[in-house]
Amino acid sequence: MAKLWEGRLTDTEKIVDVFTSSLSIDKRLFYYDLTGTLAHVFSLHNSGILKADELKDIAHGLKELREHFVEFDLNAYDYEDIHSLIENELKDSIGDKSEKIHTARSRNDQVVLDEKLFIKDAIIGLVKLLQSLLETISKLSADNIRLIMPAYTHLQKAQPVLVSHYLMSFFEKFLRDLRKLLFNFEETDILPLGSAACTGSGYEIDRDYLKKILRFRDASKNSMDEVSNRDYISDFIYSMTNIMLHLSRFSEDLIIFNSTEFSFINISDSFCTGSSIMPQKKNPDILELIRAKSSLLVGNLNQILIIFKGLPSTYNRDMQEDKTILFNAYDQTYSSIEIFIKLLDNVSFNQDVLNKALLNGFIEATDLADYLVKKGQSFRSAHKIVGKVVRYCLGNSKNICDLKIEDLKKFSEFFEEDLYKSISIDSCIESKNVFGGTNKRRVEKSLESAKEELRALEKTISSLEKRVIDFDDLLKIF
Ligand code: ARG
Repeated sequence: MAKLWEGRLTDTEKIVDVFTSSLSIDKRLFYYDLTGTLAHVFSLHNSGILKADELKDIAHGLKELREHFVEFDLNAYDYEDIHSLIENELKDSIGDKSEKIHTARSRNDQVVLDEKLFIKDAIIGLVKLLQSLLETISKLSADNIRLIMPAYTHLQKAQPVLVSHYLMSFFEKFLRDLRKLLFNFEETDILPLGSAACTGSGYEIDRDYLKKILRFRDASKNSMDEVSNRDYISDFIYSMTNIMLHLSRFSEDLIIFNSTEFSFINISDSFCTGSSIMPQKKNPDILELIRAKSSLLVGNLNQILIIFKGLPSTYNRDMQEDKTILFNAYDQTYSSIEIFIKLLDNVSFNQDVLNKALLNGFIEATDLADYLVKKGQSFRSAHKIVGKVVRYCLGNSKNICDLKIEDLKKFSEFFEEDLYKSISIDSCIESKNVFGGTNKRRVEKSLESAKEELRALEKTISSLEKRVIDFDDLLKIF
Protein backbone atom coordinates (compact mmCIF):
# COMPACT_ATOMS: atom_id res chain seq x y z
CA MET A 1 0.00 0.00 0.00
CA ALA A 2 1.27 3.46 -0.86
CA LYS A 3 3.04 5.27 1.95
CA LEU A 4 2.38 8.95 2.47
CA TRP A 5 6.14 9.51 2.39
CA GLU A 6 7.12 7.11 -0.43
CA GLY A 7 8.94 9.82 -2.44
CA ARG A 8 11.81 9.86 0.01
CA LEU A 9 11.80 6.29 1.37
CA THR A 10 10.82 3.66 -1.13
CA ASP A 11 11.31 0.34 0.45
CA THR A 12 10.77 -0.25 4.15
CA GLU A 13 11.11 -3.70 5.65
CA LYS A 14 7.85 -5.42 6.51
CA ILE A 15 8.93 -5.73 10.13
CA VAL A 16 9.22 -1.92 10.21
CA ASP A 17 5.71 -1.51 8.82
CA VAL A 18 4.31 -3.91 11.38
CA PHE A 19 6.14 -2.32 14.29
CA THR A 20 5.27 1.27 13.43
CA SER A 21 1.63 0.86 12.37
CA SER A 22 -1.00 2.17 14.77
CA LEU A 23 -3.97 1.24 12.60
CA SER A 24 -5.23 -1.52 14.87
CA ILE A 25 -5.64 1.12 17.60
CA ASP A 26 -6.43 4.36 15.80
CA LYS A 27 -9.02 2.78 13.51
CA ARG A 28 -11.32 3.84 16.30
CA LEU A 29 -10.79 7.43 15.13
CA PHE A 30 -12.09 6.66 11.62
CA TYR A 31 -15.28 8.73 11.83
CA TYR A 32 -13.49 11.60 13.53
CA ASP A 33 -10.80 11.61 10.86
CA LEU A 34 -13.48 11.68 8.16
CA THR A 35 -15.24 14.58 9.86
CA GLY A 36 -11.99 16.49 10.28
CA THR A 37 -11.01 15.82 6.68
CA LEU A 38 -14.38 17.03 5.43
CA ALA A 39 -14.03 20.26 7.42
CA HIS A 40 -10.50 20.66 6.09
CA VAL A 41 -11.60 20.34 2.45
CA PHE A 42 -14.40 22.82 3.06
CA SER A 43 -11.82 25.26 4.30
CA LEU A 44 -9.49 24.55 1.33
CA HIS A 45 -12.38 25.40 -0.96
CA ASN A 46 -13.17 28.47 1.08
CA SER A 47 -9.60 29.68 0.63
CA GLY A 48 -9.67 29.03 -3.11
CA ILE A 49 -7.27 26.06 -2.91
CA LEU A 50 -9.92 23.56 -4.04
CA LYS A 51 -12.34 24.16 -6.90
CA ALA A 52 -16.06 23.56 -6.38
CA ASP A 53 -16.07 20.35 -8.45
CA GLU A 54 -13.03 19.02 -6.59
CA LEU A 55 -14.71 19.70 -3.28
CA LYS A 56 -17.85 17.96 -4.50
CA ASP A 57 -15.98 14.84 -5.58
CA ILE A 58 -13.91 14.66 -2.40
CA ALA A 59 -16.92 15.16 -0.13
CA HIS A 60 -18.77 12.49 -2.07
CA GLY A 61 -15.75 10.17 -1.83
CA LEU A 62 -15.54 10.66 1.94
CA LYS A 63 -19.24 9.87 2.26
CA GLU A 64 -18.71 6.67 0.30
CA LEU A 65 -15.78 5.71 2.52
CA ARG A 66 -17.95 6.14 5.56
CA GLU A 67 -20.54 3.80 4.12
CA HIS A 68 -17.97 1.14 3.23
CA PHE A 69 -16.03 1.42 6.46
CA VAL A 70 -16.95 -2.03 7.74
CA GLU A 71 -15.56 -3.66 4.60
CA PHE A 72 -12.00 -2.41 5.15
CA ASP A 73 -9.43 -4.79 6.51
CA LEU A 74 -8.55 -2.57 9.41
CA ASN A 75 -6.26 -5.00 11.16
CA ALA A 76 -3.78 -4.90 8.34
CA TYR A 77 -0.57 -3.00 8.93
CA ASP A 78 -0.38 -2.03 5.27
CA TYR A 79 -1.43 1.39 6.37
CA GLU A 80 0.66 3.27 8.83
CA ASP A 81 -2.35 4.72 10.54
CA ILE A 82 -5.98 5.70 10.08
CA HIS A 83 -4.99 8.96 8.34
CA SER A 84 -3.02 7.03 5.71
CA LEU A 85 -5.87 4.59 5.25
CA ILE A 86 -8.39 7.31 4.53
CA GLU A 87 -6.11 9.12 2.12
CA ASN A 88 -5.27 5.94 0.22
CA GLU A 89 -8.80 4.58 0.13
CA LEU A 90 -10.06 7.94 -1.07
CA LYS A 91 -7.54 7.87 -3.88
CA ASP A 92 -8.66 4.37 -4.84
CA SER A 93 -12.21 5.58 -4.93
CA ILE A 94 -12.02 9.00 -6.65
CA GLY A 95 -8.55 9.00 -8.16
CA ASP A 96 -5.98 11.80 -8.28
CA LYS A 97 -8.48 14.46 -7.25
CA SER A 98 -8.06 13.18 -3.72
CA GLU A 99 -4.41 14.18 -3.64
CA LYS A 100 -5.10 17.76 -2.63
CA ILE A 101 -6.65 16.87 0.71
CA HIS A 102 -3.34 17.04 2.51
CA THR A 103 -2.59 20.60 1.36
CA ALA A 104 -2.15 22.85 4.41
CA ARG A 105 -2.33 19.95 6.83
CA SER A 106 0.03 17.53 8.54
CA ARG A 107 -0.78 14.34 10.35
CA ASN A 108 0.67 16.11 13.38
CA ASP A 109 -2.25 18.53 13.62
CA GLN A 110 -4.66 15.99 12.13
CA VAL A 111 -4.11 13.47 14.93
CA VAL A 112 -4.67 16.14 17.57
CA LEU A 113 -7.91 17.07 15.86
CA ASP A 114 -9.14 13.46 15.74
CA GLU A 115 -8.31 12.91 19.38
CA LYS A 116 -10.01 16.12 20.42
CA LEU A 117 -13.17 15.28 18.50
CA PHE A 118 -13.16 11.82 20.11
CA ILE A 119 -12.60 13.23 23.60
CA LYS A 120 -15.34 15.85 23.30
CA ASP A 121 -17.80 13.03 22.56
CA ALA A 122 -16.26 10.82 25.25
CA ILE A 123 -16.64 13.55 27.87
CA ILE A 124 -20.30 14.03 27.02
CA GLY A 125 -20.79 10.26 27.32
CA LEU A 126 -19.13 10.18 30.73
CA VAL A 127 -20.96 13.27 31.98
CA LYS A 128 -24.28 11.61 31.08
CA LEU A 129 -23.24 8.42 32.88
CA LEU A 130 -22.18 10.38 35.96
CA GLN A 131 -25.51 12.18 35.85
CA SER A 132 -27.24 8.84 36.03
CA LEU A 133 -24.92 7.68 38.83
CA LEU A 134 -25.71 10.85 40.80
CA GLU A 135 -29.43 10.27 40.28
CA THR A 136 -29.10 6.68 41.50
CA ILE A 137 -27.16 7.75 44.60
CA SER A 138 -29.65 10.46 45.53
CA LYS A 139 -32.60 8.12 45.01
CA LEU A 140 -31.00 5.47 47.23
CA SER A 141 -30.34 8.18 49.83
CA ALA A 142 -33.92 9.46 49.73
CA ASP A 143 -35.29 5.91 49.98
CA ASN A 144 -33.20 5.23 53.10
CA ILE A 145 -33.52 8.56 54.88
CA ARG A 146 -34.79 6.85 58.08
CA LEU A 147 -31.89 4.44 58.44
CA ILE A 148 -28.95 5.02 60.76
CA MET A 149 -25.62 3.24 60.63
CA PRO A 150 -22.29 3.54 62.41
CA ALA A 151 -19.80 5.85 60.69
CA TYR A 152 -16.24 4.54 60.77
CA THR A 153 -12.82 6.08 61.04
CA HIS A 154 -9.82 3.72 60.89
CA LEU A 155 -12.50 1.09 60.23
CA GLN A 156 -13.44 1.44 63.92
CA LYS A 157 -16.90 2.50 64.96
CA ALA A 158 -16.98 6.27 65.28
CA GLN A 159 -20.41 7.92 65.54
CA PRO A 160 -23.95 7.29 64.31
CA VAL A 161 -24.75 8.70 60.87
CA LEU A 162 -27.74 8.65 58.54
CA VAL A 163 -27.26 6.07 55.77
CA SER A 164 -28.34 8.87 53.41
CA HIS A 165 -25.57 11.13 54.67
CA TYR A 166 -23.07 8.36 54.05
CA LEU A 167 -24.38 7.78 50.52
CA MET A 168 -24.46 11.48 49.71
CA SER A 169 -20.76 11.69 50.55
CA PHE A 170 -20.24 9.90 47.24
CA PHE A 171 -22.63 12.24 45.46
CA GLU A 172 -20.21 15.05 46.34
CA LYS A 173 -17.20 13.10 45.14
CA PHE A 174 -18.72 12.26 41.77
CA LEU A 175 -20.02 15.79 41.35
CA ARG A 176 -16.46 17.07 41.77
CA ASP A 177 -15.34 14.54 39.15
CA LEU A 178 -18.02 15.77 36.80
CA ARG A 179 -16.82 19.34 37.20
CA LYS A 180 -13.32 18.19 36.30
CA LEU A 181 -14.71 16.67 33.11
CA LEU A 182 -16.36 19.99 32.23
CA PHE A 183 -12.99 21.68 32.65
CA ASN A 184 -11.46 18.98 30.42
CA PHE A 185 -14.07 19.75 27.76
CA GLU A 186 -13.06 23.41 27.70
CA GLU A 187 -9.35 22.59 27.48
CA THR A 188 -9.99 20.11 24.68
CA ASP A 189 -12.24 22.45 22.77
CA ILE A 190 -9.41 24.24 20.93
CA LEU A 191 -8.91 23.86 17.17
CA PRO A 192 -5.48 22.46 16.22
CA LEU A 193 -5.86 22.58 12.40
CA GLY A 194 -3.62 25.18 10.84
CA SER A 195 -0.70 24.20 13.06
CA ALA A 196 0.43 21.83 10.29
CA ALA A 197 3.68 19.95 11.06
CA CYS A 198 4.91 22.40 13.69
CA THR A 199 5.40 25.97 12.46
CA GLY A 200 1.91 26.69 11.13
CA SER A 201 0.45 26.25 7.67
CA GLY A 202 2.04 28.03 4.71
CA TYR A 203 -1.36 28.46 3.11
CA GLU A 204 -3.91 31.11 3.89
CA ILE A 205 -6.52 28.89 5.40
CA ASP A 206 -9.23 30.55 7.46
CA ARG A 207 -8.85 29.07 10.94
CA ASP A 208 -11.78 31.07 12.18
CA TYR A 209 -14.01 29.41 9.59
CA LEU A 210 -12.64 25.97 10.54
CA LYS A 211 -13.20 26.70 14.21
CA LYS A 212 -16.81 27.63 13.54
CA ILE A 213 -17.74 24.68 11.35
CA LEU A 214 -16.07 22.18 13.68
CA ARG A 215 -17.64 23.95 16.68
CA PHE A 216 -14.49 24.66 18.64
CA ARG A 217 -14.60 27.50 21.12
CA ASP A 218 -11.19 28.82 20.11
CA ALA A 219 -8.16 28.15 17.92
CA SER A 220 -4.74 27.23 19.29
CA LYS A 221 -2.42 30.20 19.62
CA ASN A 222 0.93 28.57 18.98
CA SER A 223 1.52 25.86 16.37
CA MET A 224 4.55 24.38 18.15
CA ASP A 225 2.65 24.09 21.39
CA GLU A 226 -0.39 22.56 19.74
CA VAL A 227 1.31 19.71 17.87
CA SER A 228 3.19 18.78 21.03
CA ASN A 229 0.19 19.22 23.28
CA ARG A 230 -1.37 16.17 24.85
CA ASP A 231 -2.38 17.86 28.10
CA TYR A 232 -6.00 17.40 27.10
CA ILE A 233 -5.34 13.64 27.30
CA SER A 234 -3.42 13.55 30.58
CA ASP A 235 -5.95 15.91 32.21
CA PHE A 236 -8.80 13.76 30.97
CA ILE A 237 -7.14 10.58 32.25
CA TYR A 238 -6.53 12.30 35.59
CA SER A 239 -10.26 13.03 35.85
CA MET A 240 -11.12 9.45 34.94
CA THR A 241 -8.60 8.18 37.48
CA ASN A 242 -10.40 10.19 40.14
CA ILE A 243 -13.74 8.72 39.11
CA MET A 244 -12.24 5.24 39.36
CA LEU A 245 -10.64 5.95 42.74
CA HIS A 246 -14.00 7.09 44.06
CA LEU A 247 -15.72 4.06 42.59
CA SER A 248 -13.03 1.89 44.15
CA ARG A 249 -13.51 3.37 47.62
CA PHE A 250 -17.27 3.04 47.33
CA SER A 251 -16.78 -0.55 46.16
CA GLU A 252 -14.48 -1.30 49.07
CA ASP A 253 -17.11 -0.03 51.53
CA LEU A 254 -19.78 -2.15 49.88
CA ILE A 255 -17.53 -5.22 49.90
CA ILE A 256 -17.04 -4.77 53.65
CA PHE A 257 -20.73 -4.02 54.29
CA ASN A 258 -21.66 -7.09 52.25
CA SER A 259 -19.38 -9.45 54.20
CA THR A 260 -21.11 -12.01 56.42
CA GLU A 261 -19.55 -10.35 59.47
CA PHE A 262 -21.09 -6.95 58.67
CA SER A 263 -24.19 -7.91 56.64
CA PHE A 264 -25.21 -4.23 56.48
CA ILE A 265 -26.30 -4.62 52.86
CA ASN A 266 -27.63 -7.21 50.52
CA ILE A 267 -26.69 -7.33 46.83
CA SER A 268 -29.15 -9.11 44.53
CA ASP A 269 -28.01 -12.55 43.39
CA SER A 270 -28.06 -11.36 39.77
CA PHE A 271 -25.20 -8.94 40.55
CA CYS A 272 -22.96 -11.47 42.31
CA THR A 273 -20.99 -14.48 41.19
CA GLY A 274 -20.35 -17.92 42.68
CA SER A 275 -17.41 -20.15 43.46
CA SER A 276 -16.42 -23.19 41.42
CA ILE A 277 -15.63 -25.18 44.56
CA MET A 278 -17.55 -23.72 47.51
CA PRO A 279 -21.23 -24.15 46.78
CA GLN A 280 -22.39 -21.67 49.41
CA LYS A 281 -20.48 -18.66 48.02
CA LYS A 282 -22.03 -15.46 46.71
CA ASN A 283 -19.19 -13.11 45.85
CA PRO A 284 -19.15 -9.37 45.06
CA ASP A 285 -16.83 -9.80 42.04
CA ILE A 286 -18.06 -6.71 40.21
CA LEU A 287 -16.95 -4.50 43.07
CA GLU A 288 -13.62 -6.28 43.31
CA LEU A 289 -13.00 -5.82 39.59
CA ILE A 290 -13.80 -2.12 39.82
CA ARG A 291 -11.32 -1.89 42.69
CA ALA A 292 -8.67 -3.52 40.48
CA LYS A 293 -9.53 -1.48 37.41
CA SER A 294 -8.97 1.72 39.39
CA SER A 295 -5.32 0.60 39.66
CA LEU A 296 -5.21 0.21 35.89
CA LEU A 297 -6.28 3.85 35.59
CA VAL A 298 -3.53 4.95 37.96
CA GLY A 299 -1.23 3.00 35.65
CA ASN A 300 -2.66 4.74 32.57
CA LEU A 301 -2.10 8.13 34.17
CA ASN A 302 1.51 7.21 34.89
CA GLN A 303 1.99 5.88 31.36
CA ILE A 304 0.81 9.07 29.67
CA LEU A 305 2.83 11.31 31.96
CA ILE A 306 6.01 9.29 31.59
CA ILE A 307 5.79 9.16 27.79
CA PHE A 308 5.77 12.93 27.66
CA LYS A 309 8.25 13.68 30.41
CA GLY A 310 11.43 13.66 28.36
CA LEU A 311 10.21 14.46 24.85
CA PRO A 312 11.89 17.22 22.91
CA SER A 313 9.66 19.91 21.43
CA THR A 314 6.81 19.28 18.98
CA TYR A 315 5.89 15.94 17.45
CA ASN A 316 7.74 12.72 18.22
CA ARG A 317 6.52 9.27 17.29
CA ASP A 318 6.37 8.30 20.96
CA MET A 319 3.14 10.24 20.99
CA GLN A 320 1.42 7.61 18.88
CA GLU A 321 1.19 5.41 21.98
CA ASP A 322 -1.17 7.92 23.61
CA LYS A 323 -4.22 6.41 21.95
CA THR A 324 -3.84 2.94 23.46
CA ILE A 325 -3.67 4.56 26.88
CA LEU A 326 -6.56 6.94 26.23
CA PHE A 327 -8.91 4.28 24.86
CA ASN A 328 -8.09 1.83 27.65
CA ALA A 329 -8.67 4.43 30.33
CA TYR A 330 -11.94 5.53 28.77
CA ASP A 331 -13.30 2.01 28.19
CA GLN A 332 -12.49 0.84 31.72
CA THR A 333 -14.00 3.94 33.26
CA TYR A 334 -17.12 3.87 31.14
CA SER A 335 -17.90 0.21 31.74
CA SER A 336 -17.15 0.50 35.47
CA ILE A 337 -19.56 3.40 36.01
CA GLU A 338 -22.16 1.73 33.84
CA ILE A 339 -22.22 -1.50 35.84
CA PHE A 340 -21.82 0.23 39.20
CA ILE A 341 -25.06 2.18 38.59
CA LYS A 342 -26.91 -1.07 37.91
CA LEU A 343 -25.37 -2.72 40.94
CA LEU A 344 -26.42 0.18 43.20
CA ASP A 345 -29.97 -0.36 42.01
CA ASN A 346 -29.61 -3.87 43.40
CA VAL A 347 -28.36 -2.93 46.87
CA SER A 348 -30.64 -2.95 49.90
CA PHE A 349 -29.83 -2.10 53.51
CA ASN A 350 -30.55 -4.52 56.35
CA GLN A 351 -32.24 -2.34 58.94
CA ASP A 352 -32.18 -4.86 61.81
CA VAL A 353 -28.47 -5.50 61.42
CA LEU A 354 -27.75 -1.77 61.27
CA ASN A 355 -29.78 -1.15 64.41
CA LYS A 356 -27.89 -3.88 66.26
CA ALA A 357 -24.58 -2.48 65.09
CA LEU A 358 -25.43 0.81 66.78
CA LEU A 359 -25.76 -0.88 70.18
CA ASN A 360 -22.09 -1.56 70.76
CA GLY A 361 -18.81 0.17 70.07
CA PHE A 362 -19.54 3.22 72.28
CA ILE A 363 -20.60 5.28 69.29
CA GLU A 364 -22.37 7.72 71.61
CA ALA A 365 -19.15 8.51 73.53
CA THR A 366 -18.43 11.74 71.64
CA ASP A 367 -21.96 12.96 72.37
CA LEU A 368 -21.45 12.14 76.04
CA ALA A 369 -18.33 14.33 76.04
CA ASP A 370 -20.32 17.06 74.26
CA TYR A 371 -22.95 16.73 77.03
CA LEU A 372 -20.34 17.53 79.66
CA VAL A 373 -19.07 20.47 77.61
CA LYS A 374 -22.60 21.87 77.44
CA LYS A 375 -22.70 21.58 81.25
CA GLY A 376 -19.57 23.69 81.52
CA GLN A 377 -16.60 21.31 81.26
CA SER A 378 -13.75 21.96 78.86
CA PHE A 379 -13.71 19.49 75.96
CA ARG A 380 -10.32 18.08 76.95
CA SER A 381 -11.42 17.18 80.49
CA ALA A 382 -14.77 15.90 79.18
CA HIS A 383 -12.85 13.67 76.73
CA LYS A 384 -10.75 12.28 79.61
CA ILE A 385 -13.79 11.62 81.83
CA VAL A 386 -15.68 9.81 79.06
CA GLY A 387 -12.52 7.84 78.23
CA LYS A 388 -12.53 6.59 81.83
CA VAL A 389 -16.24 5.75 81.61
CA VAL A 390 -15.56 3.69 78.46
CA ARG A 391 -12.65 1.91 80.14
CA TYR A 392 -14.89 1.11 83.12
CA CYS A 393 -17.61 -0.23 80.81
CA LEU A 394 -15.11 -2.40 78.93
CA GLY A 395 -13.82 -3.83 82.20
CA ASN A 396 -17.35 -4.61 83.39
CA SER A 397 -18.91 -5.70 80.07
CA LYS A 398 -21.41 -2.86 80.05
CA ASN A 399 -22.63 -0.20 77.67
CA ILE A 400 -22.72 3.45 78.75
CA CYS A 401 -26.52 3.52 78.92
CA ASP A 402 -26.47 0.49 81.29
CA LEU A 403 -24.72 2.61 83.92
CA LYS A 404 -26.87 4.14 86.66
CA ILE A 405 -26.63 7.88 87.29
CA GLU A 406 -24.94 7.21 90.69
CA ASP A 407 -22.21 5.23 88.92
CA LEU A 408 -21.71 7.98 86.37
CA LYS A 409 -21.56 10.69 89.01
CA LYS A 410 -18.42 8.98 90.33
CA PHE A 411 -16.75 10.12 87.10
CA SER A 412 -18.24 13.64 87.04
CA GLU A 413 -20.77 15.47 89.14
CA PHE A 414 -21.95 17.21 85.96
CA PHE A 415 -23.77 14.05 84.90
CA GLU A 416 -27.57 14.37 85.40
CA GLU A 417 -30.58 12.23 84.40
CA ASP A 418 -30.95 14.18 81.13
CA LEU A 419 -27.73 12.63 79.83
CA TYR A 420 -29.52 9.41 78.78
CA LYS A 421 -31.71 11.31 76.36
CA SER A 422 -28.82 13.29 74.96
CA ILE A 423 -26.85 10.16 74.11
CA SER A 424 -29.72 8.32 72.42
CA ILE A 425 -28.92 7.47 68.81
CA ASP A 426 -31.57 9.91 67.57
CA SER A 427 -30.05 12.74 69.61
CA CYS A 428 -26.59 11.93 68.32
CA ILE A 429 -27.95 12.42 64.77
CA GLU A 430 -30.03 15.47 65.72
CA SER A 431 -27.12 17.27 67.39
CA LYS A 432 -24.97 17.36 64.19
CA ASN A 433 -26.92 20.34 63.01
CA VAL A 434 -24.15 22.21 61.20
CA PHE A 435 -24.34 22.83 57.48
CA GLY A 436 -22.91 19.63 56.02
CA GLY A 437 -23.73 17.55 59.13
CA THR A 438 -25.84 14.42 59.48
CA ASN A 439 -28.86 16.07 61.19
CA LYS A 440 -31.92 14.74 59.33
CA ARG A 441 -33.21 18.14 58.16
CA ARG A 442 -29.71 19.04 56.94
CA VAL A 443 -29.55 15.81 54.97
CA GLU A 444 -33.02 16.42 53.53
CA LYS A 445 -31.84 19.87 52.46
CA SER A 446 -28.77 18.33 50.85
CA LEU A 447 -31.08 16.02 48.91
CA GLU A 448 -33.03 19.08 47.76
CA SER A 449 -29.91 20.84 46.57
CA ALA A 450 -28.79 17.62 44.86
CA LYS A 451 -32.02 17.80 42.86
CA GLU A 452 -31.16 21.36 41.85
CA GLU A 453 -27.68 20.28 40.81
CA LEU A 454 -29.20 17.55 38.67
CA ARG A 455 -31.64 19.96 37.05
CA ALA A 456 -28.79 22.36 36.24
CA LEU A 457 -26.86 19.43 34.83
CA GLU A 458 -29.61 18.78 32.26
CA LYS A 459 -28.93 22.23 30.83
CA THR A 460 -25.18 21.75 30.92
CA ILE A 461 -25.47 18.52 28.97
CA SER A 462 -27.72 19.96 26.30
CA SER A 463 -25.38 22.92 25.84
CA LEU A 464 -22.39 20.55 25.50
CA GLU A 465 -24.26 18.53 22.90
CA LYS A 466 -24.59 21.65 20.79
CA ARG A 467 -20.83 22.03 20.83
CA VAL A 468 -19.98 18.86 18.90
CA ILE A 469 -20.55 18.04 15.25
CA ASP A 470 -20.58 14.76 13.36
CA PHE A 471 -19.90 13.93 9.74
CA ASP A 472 -23.55 14.06 8.62
CA ASP A 473 -24.22 17.43 10.22
CA LEU A 474 -21.07 18.81 8.68
CA LEU A 475 -22.06 17.47 5.27
CA LYS A 476 -25.23 19.57 5.47
CA ILE A 477 -23.11 22.75 5.07
CA PHE A 478 -22.40 21.50 1.58
N1 ARG B 1 0.05 7.97 13.68
C1 ARG B 1 0.69 9.09 14.26
C2 ARG B 1 0.25 9.29 15.71
O1 ARG B 1 -0.73 8.78 16.07
C3 ARG B 1 0.38 10.36 13.55
C4 ARG B 1 1.27 10.53 12.43
C5 ARG B 1 2.32 11.51 12.59
N2 ARG B 1 3.47 10.88 12.10
C6 ARG B 1 4.56 11.51 11.67
N3 ARG B 1 5.49 10.75 11.23
N4 ARG B 1 4.69 12.79 11.72
O2 ARG B 1 0.88 9.96 16.46
